[in-house]
Amino acid sequence: MSLVLLTSASGAPGVTTTTLGLACTWVRPAIAIEADPVGGSAILAGHFRGFQAPTLSTADLVLAHRAGRLAEQFAAALLPVDVRTPERRARRSGEPPRGPGAAKAAPGGGSGDPGTSGSEVRRPGRGETGGRTAGEAPAVAVLPGPRSHPQARSALELWEPLSFVWRTLDREVEGTDDDPGTPGTDVFIDAGRLGMEWYAESLLDRADLILLVTRSDLPSLAAARPWAERAVETHRLHPETPAWAVALVGPDHPYNVREVAHVLGLPVLLTLPLDPRGAAAYSQGLRTKPRRPLDRALRHGGTAIREQLAATRKVLHHVQS
Ligand SMILES: Nc1ncnc2c1ncn2[C@@H]1O[C@H](COP(=O)(O)OP(=O)(O)O)[C@@H](O)[C@H]1O
Ligand SMILES: [Mg+2]
Repeated sequence: MSLVLLTSASGAPGVTTTTLGLACTWVRPAIAIEADPVGGSAILAGHFRGFQAPTLSTADLVLAHRAGRLAEQFAAALLPVDVRTPERRARRSGEPPRGPGAAKAAPGGGSGDPGTSGSEVRRPGRGETGGRTAGEAPAVAVLPGPRSHPQARSALELWEPLSFVWRTLDREVEGTDDDPGTPGTDVFIDAGRLGMEWYAESLLDRADLILLVTRSDLPSLAAARPWAERAVETHRLHPETPAWAVALVGPDHPYNVREVAHVLGLPVLLTLPLDPRGAAAYSQGLRTKPRRPLDRALRHGGTAIREQLAATRKVLHHVQS
């Protein structure tokens, strides 16, 4: 189980889109956690298009935590994400494909289907197929974030205990002839913008890897640079703290990967092309074919992330022993 946190320094470079995109293209079951303190849950309003039935909020989880029921209520708060195309869903269900505008329910009403597989609430787990047949991509789920900015304040007491819950999520277990094993669930966190009031600061220490999401223009890099310098210095002094890397959205607009890595002093682990339609699949729940340039880049970046996580584990093992 790995914990990857995504964050930004300024603007809206694509943290939410990239977090959800990574979870949906990841090779193992994945959970996307919305921890952006801005509130209003961009994922519920964007990806789920306001059609998803309201579920437990972070405020409910705070109460569950105080009652010692966080692990079970966390599982109940998760929403499954259906990453199949409309054609594929229709083939499974035997129904004709529905366009993204086919659902009739009013936003927030919760009774419609914007293209997700339904309102059943459960987390991906052992043997979970998320509505897919065995052998297809593994299950993906989302924990919607604080519904309002003030709710983010109370959620602050939630993040660290939740990170312990995530650490207990199914670990990878190799299968045998009789047992298919457990693929292990990884967690991607959308932490929103650094320095924001009620930012989930405690998760910065809990992550295995932190991705600083930025565009390649000068204002974006100027805002990202002080954070990158601080991260490099912290990691130099405390090698046991999480490594930082860059997720570059829109390389060559105008600065290229090499220039960005040089200016920020961090490796660029993920390079994502500007692909408005591919991005809208995640940020606005628009259904597209899975072979968008963005999806290809996310899969490619996923491999680099897994390599980085494996390298980090080796270094940590070395530091601790
Ligand atoms: N790789 C990309 N290519 C094109 N547009 C993108 C890309 N990533 C994100 N976007 C778009 O940028 C806007 C902001 O994205 P979002 O993920 O909400 O940013 P943030 O979470 O950083 O505020 C959205 O309209 C989204 O579709
Ligand atoms: Mg966002």
